[in-house]
Amino acid sequence: MGRAFVYVILGGGVAAGYAALEFARRGVAHGELCIISEESVPPYERPALSKGFLLPEDPARLPSFHTCVGANEEKLTPKWYRDHGIELVLGTRVKSADVNRKTLITAVGETISYKILIIATGARALKIEEFGVRGSDAENVCYLRNLADANRLVSVMQSCNGGNAVVIGGGYIGMECAAALVTNRIKVTMVFPEAHCMARLFTPKIADFYEDYYESKGVNFIKGTVLTSFENDSEGKVTAVILKDGTRVPTQMVVIGIGIRANTSLFEDQLTVEKGGIKVNGRMQTSNNSVYAVGDVAAFPVKLFGGDIRRLEHVDSARKTARHAVDAIMAPEKTGDLDYLPFFYSRVFTLSWQFYGENKGEVLQYGDFSSGRFGAYWIDKGRIVGAFLEGGSREEYEAIAKAVKLKVAVKDTAEVERQGLEFALKV
Ligand code: FDA
Ligand code: NAD
Repeated sequence: MGRAFVYVILGGGVAAGYAALEFARRGVAHGELCIISEESVPPYERPALSKGFLLPEDPARLPSFHTCVGANEEKLTPKWYRDHGIELVLGTRVKSADVNRKTLITAVGETISYKILIIATGARALKIEEFGVRGSDAENVCYLRNLADANRLVSVMQSCNGGNAVVIGGGYIGMECAAALVTNRIKVTMVFPEAHCMARLFTPKIADFYEDYYESKGVNFIKGTVLTSFENDSEGKVTAVILKDGTRVPTQMVVIGIGIRANTSLFEDQLTVEKGGIKVNGRMQTSNNSVYAVGDVAAFPVKLFGGDIRRLEHVDSARKTARHAVDAIMAPEKTGDLDYLPFFYSRVFTLSWQFYGENKGEVLQYGDFSSGRFGAYWIDKGRIVGAFLEGGSREEYEAIAKAVKLKVAVKDTAEVERQGLEFALKV
């Protein structure tokens, strides 16, 4: 048994949704395009899962956050796909791929063939078992990657109202889930191995601001240590976590966010892999001409960084790489290499920050850290290569983005530090 399509998108996440929109805009014919996804719903804006979805009142629920609401575009509901003749093969895991034969085989044994394949398999959450700790399958231990995880997290939170939670990991998931737990009136202890939160991006001074803010909301930080084991009750529920430094933290629930691995395994022996992702060129094309890769799974050249290959784990790059791949497929003569400006953001409590570029070189920090109006520039080889701003307006965020995009030269670092945001606003 088998089906054949001209275009197949493997994976039904953010990148798949934005690719579908671009295919539709470029006039893909009915029946030509298929999306295969392990998830049971059409593509949605994954960032909602750690924000609006976890609110105690009036939480976001599908269909309100199907792609592409994140960019104020059309909302791609199931009806949208039907109207555009795009086949959705949902609740279906692809278990093997053959890029020479141009076929995919699903878990139920169906063969789906393609002329052009877009790999948009995203990533999976790392399990604590991969760090040698057992027991994260307990009913009150949560990860957060997909809708099923988010539904589970909500129900565990509801059963824990007024209680305690331990959050393992001080990255994006840890920070956003800790804020959501507090908003749900759950007292949080955060545990992570680094000296401060968001260690991949924040400077110690920036981290201090957010940690102080979290502490003012009752969050307790245990830094520089890791989880070594869980304590369970007779029904298998976790009742405490034991840390490497010997601390025992009693808890009613645990949320784990300790990073991700890109879902490359179907293709590792068939396509070039680099930086933990599937390597593509500036047109999102892999080492096989008929296969493209986009989103979290793609490792692509970033022009701004001299063509360095990067794998970015953020929604903006998923959206833009997906669109670019479709442009390269549907309008090859008119599509050059992607010129992407890396962009990350987060929103927690009433705070909100944006970052552009890369956090490399010397850092200049400016503004008033006590009032939450501050930012930072990263200067490498005399030019601005990265910029961070908390609580900016649209115009201010655009200004810092432009300063990074233009790699503005810095002659006098003390003067830039003094001018702060004004420096970018004058570019
Ligand atoms: P994504 O993970 O979205 O989709 C991959 C899809 O492929 C899934 O549907 C999966 O089931 C499917 N799949 C994988 N293997 C398969 C197989 N073998 N067969 C069938 N289907 C398969 N970023 C940001 O910039 N700002 C933010 O605020 C947030 N917030 C945020 C919150 C949470 C909770 C998460 C988990 C992530 C974020 N992110 C984020 C990151 C952002 O969501 C992420 O970068 C994008 O979702 C990546 O999009 P992709 O389409 O590449 O993968
Ligand atoms: P992350 O890479 O942001 O953070 C991982 C954290 O895990 C580290 O900061 C570290 O504190 C911790 N850690 C690592 N090993 C550990 C160990 N053995 N024990 C305890 N802690 C350990 O990853 P994440 O927070 O899991 O996020 C997952 C993915 O979701 C990322 O790709 C992220 O970009 C994405 N995401 C992004 C946003 C956003 O952009 N606003 C929001 C949520 C999720």
